[in-house]
Order: sequence, then C-alpha cells, then structure tokens
Amino acid sequence: MVRAGLGRAAALAVLLASASLAGLWVGRLAERPGRFPRESSPALSPSAPKTFRTLLTLPGEEQRPSRGRARVGRERERGRAAASAASSSPVRGGIFWSRWLEAQVPRGFPASEASSWLAAARAASVVGLERGGCGRAPNRLARLSDGSRACVRYGINPEQVQGEALSYHLAGLLGFQERLPPVALSRVEASGAGGRRWAAVGEELRGAPWAEGAVVSLARWVDNLTDVVAPQPWRAPLREAGPGALSPPALRGLSLAQLVELVQWSDLILFDYLTANFDRLVSNLFSLQWDPRVMHRATRNLHRAPDGGLVFLDNEAGLGHGYRLLAVWDRYNEPLLRSVCIFREGTAARVRDLHRLRNAASELLHIYRTREPLAESLGFLSDQQARLLQERIDLVHQHILDCQAQAAQEHL
Ligand SMILES: Nc1ncnc2c1ncn2[C@@H]1O[C@H](COP(=O)(O)OP(=O)(O)O)[C@@H](O)[C@H]1O
Ligand SMILES: [Mg+2]
Repeated sequence: MVRAGLGRAAALAVLLASASLAGLWVGRLAERPGRFPRESSPALSPSAPKTFRTLLTLPGEEQRPSRGRARVGRERERGRAAASAASSSPVRGGIFWSRWLEAQVPRGFPASEASSWLAAARAASVVGLERGGCGRAPNRLARLSDGSRACVRYGINPEQVQGEALSYHLAGLLGFQERLPPVALSRVEASGAGGRRWAAVGEELRGAPWAEGAVVSLARWVDNLTDVVAPQPWRAPLREAGPGALSPPALRGLSLAQLVELVQWSDLILFDYLTANFDRLVSNLFSLQWDPRVMHRATRNLHRAPDGGLVFLDNEAGLGHGYRLLAVWDRYNEPLLRSVCIFREGTAARVRDLHRLRNAASELLHIYRTREPLAESLGFLSDQQARLLQERIDLVHQHILDCQAQAAQEHL
C-alpha cells in the first residue's frame, strides 16, 4: 500500500518538510526526573515497590494445582523465572537488557532450523501457487514439494527483492536473524534448464504478473500470526516520546511479557534505522499527521508468532529502496533511533565491531555470497549505499556511547 501510494506520500512528505515534524520529537528530558537511575534505584532493586515484583510474578502461580510431572516441572520453571525476575534488574550497566531477561525472549527461527528449511526449500519444487494470504497482488503463497509453504514476493523493482534478501542477511550479521522468517531467492522459469522447479505451476505463472526469469524471494510461511501495536514508549503522541524514551525509568511497573517485547523492539528499531526501512513504524509516524490514533493500530510488517515472539516481515523497503528515499524518511528514522537507550548487549557488540573494523558492507557481502546461491543475480549495494550503511553503523555506535555516557552520569 505504501509502495502504491509512495509518490503521493513522498510528495506530501516534501510539502510537510517545512513543518519541521522532527521538532515534535523535542524530548521532555527536563520534565522526566531521574533518567538512567542507579540499578539500586527503588524501581529496580530487590526492595522495589510491589508493582514491579508483583507484575513480574506470573498470575495465579501459587494457586494453580499441579497435575502430573510435566506440569510440576513447568511450574517450577515458571517459579524460578518469576523469582529471578523479582530479584533481578531488567537492565544492566545502565543501557543493556539483563541476560536473564534476554533469555526469556521466544526463540523465533533459530539458525539451525532456518538453515534446514532453506536447504529443503531450495531443493524443493513449487507444487502450488495461490493468490491471497501473502499481501499485495503480485505476491503469491507457494506450496513446496517438501510440504512447507512460503510467501513469494515479486518486486516491481529488483531493488526491493535485493532489499528483502540483504536485510535478512544484515539481521544475521547483527545477531537477531531469528526474528525474521528465513528468506531464499529463486529464479522464476517455467521452462528451460531451471524450469523443473516451477514446472508444476506453469499455468499459475502465466496468470501471475511476473516477468519470465525474474528473481523472487521466498519467505517461510508462519501460521497464525497476529497483529502488534507499538508499546508504550512509542504509543503516546510523538511529542511525548523523544530521546531516551526507552530507558530504565520507562520500565517501571511493566510486566515480564512487556519487558520481553521491548527487548525485541530495541533490535527492531536499530534494524530499521540501519536499513532505513520506512515501511514499518516510520510509515505509521508519517500517518500521525492525519490519524492521531495511528500508534494505537497494528504496526505494518510486524507480527506476533504463536510463541509470543515478534516476527519482522517484509523488509523489502530496507537498504537500496530505503537509502534512495532517505531525504523523505530520515526525519522519522533518526528520532526513532534516539528514542532507544537500552540495547541487547550482543547487538551493541556487533555494531561496535562493524564500526571499529569499518567493514559493514564487506561483511554483509561476504555473508550474502556464502549463504545465498543467487547472490550474484541481483547485484549488491552500490559504493554509495555501502558508505551509507557504514555511516549508519557509525551513528548507531555513537548513539550507544552517548546513552552509556548519560547512564554513567546518572550514576555519579
Ligand atoms: N511469511 C509469512 N507467513 C505468514 N504470513 C505472511 C508471511 N508473509 C506475509 N504474510 C501475510 O501477508 C501480509 C502482507 O505481507 P507483506 O509481506 O507485508 O506484503 P505486502 O506489504 O507486499 O502486501 C502480512 O501482513 C501477513 O498477514
Ligand atoms: Mg508489507
């Protein structure tokens, strides 16, 4: 939808540029006392107010009668989790999610499962191709001969398919690829040498608006996805979020489930900043101009899997496409990044290494070529896009250092 209306949206954005919307983000820093409290602050210490402890304790824990050993085991596990939550701070070192909390994040698509699906999907042939279920008109839901399913995306511009694939591998480089359904490229050929794979759906291919020989992306189908509304730090009107909106004081009174979700959001916002993906939170922020409640509605291209974990779908607006439209969208991307001051330590470490070695694009190219057999078919980032990626890594790294300095100051 955003793509279809992009011309209109971009024109509107340019018209509204003079309104200096980023100014709405002026943080209420001064109004928020005690940012980055010591970890022994009342909200986060063992003597924390009841709200923190009680909310982290899973409801009905004590009253539930145990039935059977598995159930007892599960309850013990939950009991340990709740006890650990009650005695631990969700943040360590002022800016990192605690390891304990990170361990509660649903596993998503672990590397080993992703690579077995990718291997099976690449070897399989397409036995069915259906309209519906996978979004806009050119997309299709494919049934594969190994019994699995995938959403096939056809980019009007090859840069979109490249963006989908490269974003997937960038998430791998940054250490949170388990939040994205595995993505493989495939060349659509109804006949010829590569035709065997698509031969069974020749008829459907004739009805699809895809060019013969086009490269499409296949993302593993996920059953029973549900919508996700942005959590509190971003749900309030824009002017109420602001630099450091996601920092320790904002966590007071949150439930375990809410904290676990925020861990994933901190990666999502870094990811969308690095790839300049405007087709998620940013497009909602843009719509705030005429829809003040847009942040209370489902976030585009973000879903919740049945295990409760977030799934970052449809990343084709990232990298090439996003970088081309930086002038339009960066006024939203950058304040969003600055709203996050708690990070997964592993993500921050990857960003730091890519900053120090100044090798973000070459590492991405290496991982892309190693893991995607069709990597050569869509080319790679241009030199200018590679520089932009490195600059964004550098800026994220600097932002993390700024948050750290701020947290240290609060400790003095
Ligand atoms: N891999 C997938 N598994 C399950 N559902 C999917 C998957 N990919 C897309 N969908 C469904 O299709 C909708 C649109 O998908 P998306 O990839 O965002 O397409 P587009 O934005 O091009 O219309 C999603 O909101 C989701 O409901
Ligand atoms: Mg989409």
